[in-house]
Amino acid sequence: MARRIIKAAPDYLALNVLEFGRHFTNLLTSKEFKLSIEHEKHTRILGYSCRSLFEVCLQYFDNRDLVVATTPIQHTSFRNILEKYVKPENLHIIRLNTNFNEIQKIPDLKKCDIVVITHYFGQDIDLTPFVEFKKKHNCFIIEDRVQGATMDLLASHEIVDIPIYSMGMDKRPIALGGGFMYIDNQHEDLIKGTMKLIAELPIEKTGKRFKDMLKKLPTYLFYNSRIFLAIFIELLRVVTFFNKKFSLLEFAKAYRAKNPGFDRTTYMSKPSKGLLKSMYQHIDDYKDMEELFARKYSYFIECLDPETIAYFIPWYKGESSLAVYNTLQIEEHLVDQFLEFLTEYDISCITNPTYKVFNHEYEGKEIDVKFNNGIVYIPSTPNMKKREIRFLADRLKEFYDLIHQETG
Ligand SMILES: Cc1ncc(COP(=O)(O)O)c(C=O)c1O
Repeated sequence: MARRIIKAAPDYLALNVLEFGRHFTNLLTSKEFKLSIEHEKHTRILGYSCRSLFEVCLQYFDNRDLVVATTPIQHTSFRNILEKYVKPENLHIIRLNTNFNEIQKIPDLKKCDIVVITHYFGQDIDLTPFVEFKKKHNCFIIEDRVQGATMDLLASHEIVDIPIYSMGMDKRPIALGGGFMYIDNQHEDLIKGTMKLIAELPIEKTGKRFKDMLKKLPTYLFYNSRIFLAIFIELLRVVTFFNKKFSLLEFAKAYRAKNPGFDRTTYMSKPSKGLLKSMYQHIDDYKDMEELFARKYSYFIECLDPETIAYFIPWYKGESSLAVYNTLQIEEHLVDQFLEFLTEYDISCITNPTYKVFNHEYEGKEIDVKFNNGIVYIPSTPNMKKREIRFLADRLKEFYDLIHQETG
């Protein structure tokens, strides 16, 4: 089999070595930074992470009978936070179309307090269908725009009250931690209330941030250093030759699970001075990243034919994905076969590490489970050479032809 190593992981940190080092020196700062940036029409509130800002919002709105309408799959942390604050019978699922890129049906509710929208795969879902719903229920709309479209817009739609962003490890923009949300200055109470909740949280210890960042060093090398990854894949091939248990696929799975880019346990913290300094330095650094992501992704799309695009990227609407992750969809029963196929070519890939469905039963849940189980991350294009992108696209076409031959 023709081998060509793709020297890119399913993740990428848009961060050069100097900036990586600067996040360490920022820990020495004694400067005080404000937890909010006031603009003419809105306030930008800074937090320890995107998930902590979301939990702060739910704490602010918390009452035992909070009624929420939400998109079917959420980042694990968002799913868990919603299940913590909202009773299952009060969590109503918004039906998306089969491509997960449009709203198909809004739940018919007597009362709704909050709508929570997550945007997927580097583009925004059009929220126009919610205009009437918002007027009727006078509800708040919160959106997870971490994997949404361009940040030239503060939110995906004018009806959104609280768009939330992450500045975590592989995010846009990047500060190796942190997150922010925008709130319109008309919501004075909401701004004051959420800021008070953040200010009362225990502050992140500088030593902890130092250790967390130190642990990211191998991750940085795996995701960003093409030479490091190429040598590692070659070494792993030797090991795999003697012991089939050690494959690139098994390694990628175990590494991503053991080294998440975020803090799962103590995320309800107030950002330290060092983190705030890093955030202030990079909070508006999204443009170059978006241009890089869009340029590389467009080339990837150019290398694919329409059939392959429709099969693997059903949500594609002609706009470049602005997520760092190169996400595909594949029929649930073919996921293992597909991952093994890519692994044969030493192409690193992982099953969906990001999204989860809710635990409670609801109508149509099986469709969401199926969709969610079919999500796969393949090498992230920003770090790839054109010939690698072409090689990757050709492998997708090869797999597509293979399964269509098999099924006649
Ligand atoms: C879509 C999405 N939402 C939310 C988050 C959580 O961000 P944070 O780690 O800043 O809490 C992530 C992080 O991976 C994400 O990909």
